[in-house]
Amino acid sequence: MISHYAYAVEPWCLRETELNLDVLAQSESVFSVSNGHVGWRGNLDEGEPHALPGSYLNGVHEQHPLPYAEAGYGFPESGQTMINVTNGKLIRLLVDDEPFDLRYGRLRSHERVLDLRTGLLHRVCEWTSPVGKTVRVRSTRLVSFTQRAIAAVAYEVEAVDARTSVVVQSELVANEQLPALGGDPRVGAALKSCLRPEEHAAVDMRLRLVHHTAASNQRIAAAADHEVRGPGSTRSSSESADDVGRFTVSADLDPGETLRIEKFVSYGWSGIRSLPAVRDQVEAALTGARNTGWQGLVDQQREYLDGFWHRADIEVDGDAEIQQAVRFALFHVLQAGSRAEQRSIPAKGLTGSGYDGHAFWDTETFVLPLLTYASPNCVAEALHWRQNTLPAARARARQLGLRGAVFPWRTIDGAECSGYWPAGTAAFHINADIAAAVVRYIWATGDTDFERRTGVELLVETARLWHSLGHHDSGGRFHIDGVTGPDEYSALANDNTYTNLMAGANLRAAAEVAARHPEQAAALGVDEEEAAGWRDAAKAMSVPYVNALGLHEQSAGYTGLDVWDFADTPRELYPLMLHFPYFDLYRKQVVKQADLVLAMYLCGDAFEADQKARNFAYYEPLTVRDSSLSACVQCVMAAEVGHVRLAFDYLGEAALMDLADLEKNTRDGLHIASLAGTWVGLVAGFGGMRDHGDVLYFAPRLPERLSRLAFSVLIRQRCLRVDITGSQVTYTLREGEPLRISHGGEVITLSEGSPQTRPVEPPTALPAPAQPPGRRPEPRR
Ligand code: BGC
Repeated sequence: MISHYAYAVEPWCLRETELNLDVLAQSESVFSVSNGHVGWRGNLDEGEPHALPGSYLNGVHEQHPLPYAEAGYGFPESGQTMINVTNGKLIRLLVDDEPFDLRYGRLRSHERVLDLRTGLLHRVCEWTSPVGKTVRVRSTRLVSFTQRAIAAVAYEVEAVDARTSVVVQSELVANEQLPALGGDPRVGAALKSCLRPEEHAAVDMRLRLVHHTAASNQRIAAAADHEVRGPGSTRSSSESADDVGRFTVSADLDPGETLRIEKFVSYGWSGIRSLPAVRDQVEAALTGARNTGWQGLVDQQREYLDGFWHRADIEVDGDAEIQQAVRFALFHVLQAGSRAEQRSIPAKGLTGSGYDGHAFWDTETFVLPLLTYASPNCVAEALHWRQNTLPAARARARQLGLRGAVFPWRTIDGAECSGYWPAGTAAFHINADIAAAVVRYIWATGDTDFERRTGVELLVETARLWHSLGHHDSGGRFHIDGVTGPDEYSALANDNTYTNLMAGANLRAAAEVAARHPEQAAALGVDEEEAAGWRDAAKAMSVPYVNALGLHEQSAGYTGLDVWDFADTPRELYPLMLHFPYFDLYRKQVVKQADLVLAMYLCGDAFEADQKARNFAYYEPLTVRDSSLSACVQCVMAAEVGHVRLAFDYLGEAALMDLADLEKNTRDGLHIASLAGTWVGLVAGFGGMRDHGDVLYFAPRLPERLSRLAFSVLIRQRCLRVDITGSQVTYTLREGEPLRISHGGEVITLSEGSPQTRPVEPPTALPAPAQPPGRRPEPRR
């Protein structure tokens, strides 16, 4: 585990002041740069040592058979794995005749800084070769937010105390050797040499490699161009072969003299475009980047991020670690989604191969809320991607004998890749999660064009699924049986409360949207009878509640199950799914991740305040948080029901998930949903923001430790700033037409230039419920 203090605590950057090879894999994830289209892990420039080399392109994957000992109808037969594509970040260095490899010689200093305001990854190091030649290397790396196919590196080597011959090899390398991966199911499959060469070229300073994948049949081109600045002795040459393009520069440097290489890399890929078309695409992108120049790319990056921070920054006074962590989180979520553009936002973004690069409900439930209020156009793009995958989702529904669309539990291109039914396809709630993201986006932006073109279709097809999956009983109640809710330690349950409430909202939203857009609805075959069926099902939706206990059940009969033997489960046996059989987890009360508690957050208006408090107290001692998606949700509900200190502990867990490697798998890539959960915890937890009424609702409450929390929300073309201190909150409309909001039930109309201040009620200090032994979140003191 990385100690969090591996990184200096600074408000706007992540600084690592020495290189620790034991945690190289984690730092490669943390220092990833990406724009959602192209992603480079934070591998060292010279390629080695490395833990997991990673260059990823959104959607580029290879297919492989999913074998079953006993096949069954409807099992997905083909898996998909995001692949490590051509590495364009490689820059090798020879110092006199010694390879610059930090495992040899003496590393005098090594610092890496991810600057969250400029979007640049800097590295400075000083190294003495085994024969005593010292060089200083400075590099800066970016993946451009403004030119989505472009990544670039500025690399400088300086002779320190003696005349030194240096040779720099700037490369494109395909089919890099990958390390063997362990048996953890959350780790991705390592597919070896899956890029088949099609073309290679090296002309002057330009390099190009084109490959394709055998089974998924995608064509991938990478090209690089260079600018060189060095002394008179500088010479260069280039060459290429199937899997390597190499541009070599040599120079003799006097002490203090430098050789500088600016490397521009472009990527292009397609499942349908021809070789000449993809080749021209990367050449054109490269020419564009060359015209912009290195400094131009750096300036554009800054300008893009200035805009983002203006609308999305969160200020946290009183806890410098959380301040840093939340900016780190916002930055990485932006990196995952900003230019994904009609492709998915995977659970790990483009930072590692964990979960095979698949996208899950993580996107719609955790990532898109943040982006809705900070970068709404990314949300429209992500939901367009879902819309583009509707043909596969409809086909899956037909295969399962259902109507409408069944969206995949995990996927890259829209096809179901989960070979395990109970924790895969049975998690039908993903359909309602997508619908909720559609509804939230439309609600928050008023984008009627999107509603007409995308919203109607997604809402109608997801509603159809629920109507065909559920049934009315003889008394008219509507039930949805045999599904898996968010808690994956419970499977194939009847009437999962979360699923039913979310499905109900989905059905209602579909009926409403069909009424607002009759033409689009008619084109999808919706008639009045069908819409009435949706409304009836929503109205009659069953929500399991045990009167005797005054409790909601996670699913029908849940509270009657035996309780997991927490007392006899030592802490090293968590996560439970790696140490106990699912059959045993499934038949006990033990909650992997917030499920009923998530329902109370996202469908809060379906619960009374006292029910929320009782439910929270009941489920808290059962919830083990074996998923990184849990802490932020528990933070929100702990804050709402009055356990503000506990909420703050949960916030710390969500915020430090990757910086402190809490789940010990940051090496496989960042937990993008948990990073987004930092925003969820602060904005929905301590800001108390909810969006299920007519207007945005706030009920702020700060933990003792924080003296101030300020965040912005983009809402219907306005920018609202919420600034909370221990005793009051000020709402400021920064731009736009007057806006109505609710402060704990009081509706306030805000106008530009007239901030409104209201008192903040001190939280009632209730005795906090206990967690299962050993599973208490680390107290933030
Ligand atoms: C969680 C899922 C989540 C997936 C990817 C699993 O461990 O239980 O809810 O979607 O990880 O993050």
